[in-house]
Amino acid sequence: MADVLLEVEGIESGYGKKTVLQGVSLRVHEGEVVTVLGHNGAGKSTTLKTILGLLPARAGRVVFAGEPWANGNPVENVRRGMALVPQGRGVFPDLTVIENLMLGAYTQRDTQSNATRLRDVIELFPMLAERRAQRAGTLSGGQQQMVAVGMALMPRPRLMMMDEPSIGLAPVLVQRVLETAQQINRRFGTAIILVEQNIKTALGVAERAYVMKSGRVILEKPAAELLAAQDSWWELY
Ligand SMILES: Nc1ncnc2c1ncn2[C@@H]1O[C@H](COP(=O)(O)OP(=O)(O)O)[C@@H](O)[C@H]1O
Ligand SMILES: [Mg+2]
Repeated sequence: MADVLLEVEGIESGYGKKTVLQGVSLRVHEGEVVTVLGHNGAGKSTTLKTILGLLPARAGRVVFAGEPWANGNPVENVRRGMALVPQGRGVFPDLTVIENLMLGAYTQRDTQSNATRLRDVIELFPMLAERRAQRAGTLSGGQQQMVAVGMALMPRPRLMMMDEPSIGLAPVLVQRVLETAQQINRRFGTAIILVEQNIKTALGVAERAYVMKSGRVILEKPAAELLAAQDSWWELY
C-alpha cells in the first residue's frame, strides 16, 4: 500500500452551538480514490469543509503530507496541495471560463506555470477551450461542473475532494463526471475523496469506501466488497 497522504483523526466540528461531526476518522493513501457515502445530512460536506479548513475543527487532528494541517485555514491547505470541488456549481457565473480557471490558481505563488496548468486542464476538457470567452453562468450544468473541476485542478492538488460532483446531472453525464475523476487520478496521481449519491457508480470508481451516519463513520470497506454485498450493509446505511 502506498504512503498515507491524509490522516483524519477524531475531528469534531459544527455550526454555532450545533456539533455535527462527532469524531470522524478516515485515511487516504497517495494516489488513492476513496468514496464517502451517506444520507443527506450525515455530515459528508461538513467533513470535507473541515478537512479543507473552511470550518475549524474543535477537536481531533488532520495530518496531510506528513504535516499537521492548517486548521481553519483553507488558503494554506490549498497551498499545500488540497482542493475542493464544492457541492453545487462552484463557478463564478459572470466570469468567463478562462477567468474562472485562472482564479482557481490564485493561491499559487509561481504564476509562470499557470500556462502549463491551464494547458493540462484544457487537455482534459477540450470543450473549455472552445468556450473560453463564454460566461460560466451561460454553460450547461455539465459544462459548469467541468469548469469547477478545472478550477480545483489548476493548483495541481495532491488531494482533490469532490462534493457530489454529479448532482443534478443527466445519467449519462454522471458517468462522465466520475470517469473524469478517475482520469485525473490516473494522469496526475491525484488522490481523490469522492462524495456521491450515486452509490454504485461511486463504488465502481473508488478503491475504498466510508459510510457516514449522524456525524460518524459507521463503516469502512474496500469498494468492491461493498458492491458485492450491497444488501447486507444497506440496512445499516
Ligand atoms: N451552514 C450550516 N449551518 C447550520 N447547520 C448546517 C450547515 N450546513 C450543514 N448543516 C447541518 O449539518 C448537518 C450535516 O450536514 P452536511 O455536512 O451538509 O451533510 P451531507 O453533506 O452529508 O448531506 C445537517 O444536520 C445540516 O443541517
Ligand atoms: Mg453534502
